[in-house]
Formats: sequence, structure tokens, C-alpha cells
Amino acid sequence: MASHTDNNLPQTMKLITQPSPSSQILTLVPSHPLPRPPPPSSSEHHLIHVHAASPCRHELLWELADPHIFPNGRAEPRLPCPEGSGTIVTSAPGTEAAAFKPGDKVFFAPDYNPTGCLAEYIYVRTSELALVPANITLTQAAAVPLSALTAYQGLFAHGGLTAPGAPSAAKDNEDKKLLITGASGSVGAWAVQLASAAGVGHITALSSPSKASLPRSLGATHILNRDDPGVDKYDVIFDTVGNPVLDSAWSTIKPDGTSKIICVGADDPAKTRPDGAGGVAKAEWFLVQPSGSDLAKIAALIEAGHCRPLVDSVYKFDEFEAAFQKVDRGETRGGKVVIEV
Ligand SMILES: NC(=O)c1ccc[n+]([C@@H]2O[C@H](COP(=O)([O-])OP(=O)(O)OC[C@H]3O[C@@H](n4cnc5c(N)ncnc54)[C@H](OP(=O)(O)O)[C@@H]3O)[C@@H](O)[C@H]2O)c1
Repeated sequence: MASHTDNNLPQTMKLITQPSPSSQILTLVPSHPLPRPPPPSSSEHHLIHVHAASPCRHELLWELADPHIFPNGRAEPRLPCPEGSGTIVTSAPGTEAAAFKPGDKVFFAPDYNPTGCLAEYIYVRTSELALVPANITLTQAAAVPLSALTAYQGLFAHGGLTAPGAPSAAKDNEDKKLLITGASGSVGAWAVQLASAAGVGHITALSSPSKASLPRSLGATHILNRDDPGVDKYDVIFDTVGNPVLDSAWSTIKPDGTSKIICVGADDPAKTRPDGAGGVAKAEWFLVQPSGSDLAKIAALIEAGHCRPLVDSVYKFDEFEAAFQKVDRGETRGGKVVIEV
């Protein structure tokens, strides 16, 4: 049994670690020292007792495949799961941090470089936190941050659509035509429900027929087979897959100089732009940024019933291998796999 210090924190905790960037095998460490408090100069960190965390597809390959994103390598122990939920144990000093108090339920997608979330205790910055909506559980909350933030930033910061809640959103978006690839996947399904909440008039979702009920239930106005973007023309394409779907999607972008192709999947449209493709205002791959303020806007949409958490299945902590296998084999239906800590 873990021994406790005076302030009731255990001296050790359990965590899951990826031993090296090239290792695809995760290890359970049953008794690891708690994370060290960050230096006093970085006083914006809150200690979180993690309730649940969620793996992302192929995340164990990221450090090897994209070393430029991790110029100094990831911090040890290399914790997987780029998003999670939990309860604040000790909160950071300072005015902005005062929004978060010990005992508050929070969710987060912190900067993956210092830390993932699959441990009993982690430190998370004020700027990366938001309060969990009152109408969902901590387990459901762990499924939200990364996918929802990726879709939110992709559609509204990069894709140029007007975010839900802005007074002009319905008017700005009603004539927009949006194509979403991988729309029955976690990021794609969030893109569907956020676009619907923002009043986008035409949302075409690419999905396997067997999974199409999800994007349809979230507000997609048109459904096409997952690798067939059809012949319609779009103002914005949001790609969560990569090639060959992305390659085919190029033929469906409006050639009017204002359209945008925004990607988060395996391929960068700037590198695969077909010869003769012109007229696109922007074709870019982007990396989601931790943002407590964007996450708070998403939380408000959930609380108002405009969006909902998408959970495929829930695993116990020591079932982590099965959880990662399900995600990496693409066997999820209807959202994210969540691991309860
Ligand atoms: N750049 C960033 O900041 C960022 C952030 C988050 C995630 N990501 C990446 O975004 C991708 C999607 O993440 P996710 O969590 O949404 O994954 P996910 O839940 O596994 O969804 C993946 C989707 O891709 C579809 N798909 C897979 N292979 C396909 C193919 N050959 N043709 C057509 N569709 C195909 C699947 O369709 P079916 O379900 O119909 O099989 C599924 O809907 C992952 O690569 C992830 O690493 C990037």
C-alpha cells in the first residue's frame, strides 16, 4: 500500500511509460516517485490527480516520425495519452490560476513534449486547463480535449469558418460547403458536430457505411463513402486521414481563391499538391496547440447541449495494452477509448 506524506499525497504513484521513442511496447511502473514540482519561476502549474486519459492513434510513432516536433526528445518518463481529466490537488498561485481551485474537476490536452497523461499525478499549466462541464462525467471528459481542440482550431482558426457563439456565425457559415474526411473517427466526428453547432449549411462526411450513423447523428447533411469525395465543390476541406483520400479531395476544392484545405492526418497537402491545382487560399497541415480558453468554449457547447463527448469504450488501468491495440488497429466506433487511472 502506498505510504502518505503529511498533506495526504502518496510518495509514489503508478504510471505507464514508453521506454524509448522506438519502442512500441508500453511498460507499467507500479511505484514511481511523484512528479517534481516545477521550478518556482514557472509558477503556473497545478498538480492534478488524474482520473482518466485517452490514447491517440499512432501516438507511439510520433517522436520517431516527427522529430522536428520534439527537438530535445520527450521528457522522461515518457507518458503516453495526450489528453485526460482529473481533480486539482494543489493549484498554482496567481490571478489567472485563481479560476482553478483544489477539488475542481478539470480536463486538458497539455503540451505532449513534457508530459502525456497516463499517470496518477501530473502537473498541468493554467493555460492548458478548463473546468469539466457539469453535465458529463470525468471519464467522458477525458475523451474530449485533443480531438475537440484539433477540430475546433482546424475549422475556426485555420479553416476560416466563424466559431459557434460569435453573433455572425449562422449568417457567415450558412452558405459554406465543408468536406470532412475520416468523419466517423474521433477528430472527424468532432469536426462534424462543431461545424453543425456553428451553423455550417452543408457538411459532407466521408465515412465507412457501417459507421455513417455517427456523423449523420451529429449533423452531417451529406454522407459519402470514406474514400470517395464525390464531385461536389467545397469551400473548406478538413482532412483527418491523409493520402490517398487527401489526394482525391484536391479535385473537389472550389477554385475561387478563397477555399482552404486544412489537414491533421498523415500527409501535408502542401507536399502533395497535384500539378495544375490552383486557386486555393491555403493548403496546410497543422499541429493542435494546447489551449484552455478554446477548451472552455468547447465545454460551454457541451454544457449547452450543442455537442457531446464521444466515448467508444472504457478500459481499466492495467488493460492499457488492449486499449492501445484497439486504437491503433482502427477498431473504434463512435469516439475515443478511455483508460481509467
Ligand atoms: N495534427 C494534429 O494536431 C493531430 C491532432 C489529433 C490527431 N491527429 C491525427 O489525426 C488522425 C485522426 O485521429 P483520430 O483520433 O480521429 O483517429 P480515429 O478515431 O482512428 O479516426 C480515423 C479515421 O480515419 C478513417 N480512415 C482510416 N484509414 C482510411 C482510409 N484509408 N481511407 C479513408 N478513411 C480512412 C477511419 O475511417 P473508418 O472509421 O470509416 O474506418 C476513421 O474514421 C490520426 O492520424 C491522429 O494521429 C493529429
